[in-house]
Amino acid sequence: MTAKTPKRLLIRTWGCQMNVYDSNRMADVLAPLGYAPTEVADEADMVILNTCHIREKAADKVFSDLGRLRGVKEARAERGDRMIIAVAGCVAQAEGAEISRRAPYVDIVLGPQTYHRLPEMVARASRAAGAQIETDFPAEAKFDHLPHAAGTSEPVGFLTVQEGCDKFCSFCVVPYTRGAEFSRPLDQVVAEARSMVVRGAREIVLLGQNVNAYHGAPGGLAALLHAVAAIPGVARLRYTTSHPRDMDDALIAAHRELPTLLPLLHLPVQSGSDRMLAAMNRGHTAADFRRVVDRLRTARPEIAFSSDFIAGHPGESDADHAATLRLIRDVGFSQSFSFMYSPRPGTPAAGAGSQVPEDVKQARLAEIQDLLRIQAEAFNISREGMVMDVLVTGPAKRPGQMAGRSPWLQPVHFDAPDTLAGQVARVRVTAGRKNSLAAALLSEESAATWHGGEVGAFTPAQENQAA
Ligand code: SAH
Ligand code: SF4
Ligand code: F3S
Repeated sequence: MTAKTPKRLLIRTWGCQMNVYDSNRMADVLAPLGYAPTEVADEADMVILNTCHIREKAADKVFSDLGRLRGVKEARAERGDRMIIAVAGCVAQAEGAEISRRAPYVDIVLGPQTYHRLPEMVARASRAAGAQIETDFPAEAKFDHLPHAAGTSEPVGFLTVQEGCDKFCSFCVVPYTRGAEFSRPLDQVVAEARSMVVRGAREIVLLGQNVNAYHGAPGGLAALLHAVAAIPGVARLRYTTSHPRDMDDALIAAHRELPTLLPLLHLPVQSGSDRMLAAMNRGHTAADFRRVVDRLRTARPEIAFSSDFIAGHPGESDADHAATLRLIRDVGFSQSFSFMYSPRPGTPAAGAGSQVPEDVKQARLAEIQDLLRIQAEAFNISREGMVMDVLVTGPAKRPGQMAGRSPWLQPVHFDAPDTLAGQVARVRVTAGRKNSLAAALLSEESAATWHGGEVGAFTPAQENQAA
């Protein structure tokens, strides 16, 4: 038999950054089998759809994509070429059997805890027809069996340190698709972070569905952040996603103690109404959230916040919605994500009798988003004139310009040579726009750390003025 080399692998990724991490690991585990990346479905010997189940729309995309891939697979078969189709991620976990029923041309269905078994599943799929389904939560942890990445790293290195969730919010599928909370040991995380930095990463993002519940070391996430910050070459550090309930004293103090920890925290609150927070099983009140925000602002005056909001959770009244708008106005967010409540099969909220009508959900979401948009733009404008260090991620669309990320993760564009890619550069912001900043390059600052000296705190008062 003559093996065709190299074989081509296409991975499409939806959902959270943990899926991005998993997609990279799947590429690493398949590289020794001769699979090299491609962007073109037509020439792919294997396609992996790494899916997300968080909202109905996300899950629907999988089936429409599979429909298109079926045609490609058939066209390839006519040319005598085999294409393996695999569905991974949270839809695979939640709807494995449904996928093979609705899309029998899918060869492999594998849940998020089984990626280290991919090579053996590919080998079996190459020998025999018929779908292989692997959605157990196996006893051996996937992280112990997945290879470390090789080759150069992107400037931003995403690193999963914690997986799964035990919180069971009323609306959420994650505890069912990712299983119980699991933390990787500190040494393993630090070794992987070091390897990312050696291969060119300047920013490390510690990931987990509930990253601040990390318990892979005494001292929790704060201890891990200190350990990763101590790796030479780490210019920027952040972590996501956190639960307000798990912001402990040590973690709040880390925001004061670690200058490389970026002054932006993603802290989903979902609602500003205590009644809704209780119905959602979030385990804290709106006042608790405001207190956490205040303590973080005291620890790190220039810190900004982003959050997630859900409009129209079952039982939400006009007064509950008004409380959410009030919380947004009072706290002030630099960017945020907001969603219409989407009933997910098997979650407690999906069966609740008090579903909110679609048009009401839509109207509330629009109000939330209008307010968040105004705040985001005001925040961008409030950066005008500031000097800041940006991580240069690559060329911008306009020729001669490079794109980067500010310490608050705003996209920044400025004239610069492309040799700056992957470096930290110092710029002065010339204009704050709706979704980005325009800037002028001051100097290239290699091995820079960002010290918040030249920027002021972003307070709600400032942003309400601008609004
Ligand atoms: N672990 C994070 C969030 C994970 S899911 C946390 O605890 O906050 C990302 C976001 O998707 C959530 O914050 C929530 O705003 C949104 N989301 C989750 N389930 C949803 C649903 N059924 N309908 C609408 N939005 C949902
Ligand atoms: Fe989902 Fe809640 Fe867990 Fe976040 S904390 S992943 S919203 S169940
Ligand atoms: Fe989606 Fe699963 Fe992440 S449902 S948000 S891919 S944990």
